[in-house]
Amino acid sequence: DALDRLASAIREADSTVALTGAGVSTASGIPDFRGEDGIWNAQFDPADFQVGRFRSDPAGFWEDRVKLHEAMFPGEIEPNAAHEALAELESQGWLDALITQNTDGLHGAAGSKELFELHGNAHRIVCMDCGRKIDAASVRERVREGESPPLCDCGGLLKPDVVLFGESLPEAIMAEAQRRARESDVFLAVGSSLTVEPAASLPKAGARDGLLAICNFDPTPHDDRTDVLVREDVTEVLPALVARLDA
Ligand code: OAD
Repeated sequence: DALDRLASAIREADSTVALTGAGVSTASGIPDFRGEDGIWNAQFDPADFQVGRFRSDPAGFWEDRVKLHEAMFPGEIEPNAAHEALAELESQGWLDALITQNTDGLHGAAGSKELFELHGNAHRIVCMDCGRKIDAASVRERVREGESPPLCDCGGLLKPDVVLFGESLPEAIMAEAQRRARESDVFLAVGSSLTVEPAASLPKAGARDGLLAICNFDPTPHDDRTDVLVREDVTEVLPALVARLDA
């Protein structure tokens, strides 16, 4: 079956690289963006989270951002079986790099090491002036208490350390992710609609000389170039893949 094909391709590959999206974290209680109950479908408007909005109306941006954060991270969040399987694939030597669009920090929490967080990390805040990075929870608390927009000790404007719409990705991280994707023999895209550039182009680079596998509930724009397409739950498929590789 599809999983057997994928497992044997990974066994033969010099390099396997994975790209993840919000779908790997839905089982941890974090909604995705464009799936069935996605954040952008009903609750929030991506236009409110543009970098232009942050610049022109930082106070309004921050108040919406705190609400977005509460919707995205409703409680204590922990890695699930998908994060754990990806960390295990790496520790067993099957996975060389993990590229993620997620800002939830759950891959790091699960133990993934060779990790590229393309869209930053929502647990950190960065000062636009001095570049200092601080913990996000205390800053959100300050906004809830009425300090909006929140400012750094240096007087600079604070911004979530994530990539906003209209902002470019951290160049060095993206360049390295592209190189890893190009050089991979197997590229595994899981839990992402593959619609947000430039991350959405990585599967194309990955598929150039290698095998492309996609595991996602909803269709993606890359489905017709995919060698292995699995429309099942990532929290079941990834542990099953680990088991096949163990066998
Ligand atoms: P999306 O919400 O666009 O896609 C998540 C996909 O995961 C959907 O197509 C779902 O069908 C699928 N899915 C959800 N749970 C799943 C499960 N348990 N098993 C299999 N599939 C599942 O999220 P991303 O592709 O990550 O940008 O979105 C990309 C970027 O758009 C995000 O990084 C974010 C957003 O705006 C920034 O934060 C900059």
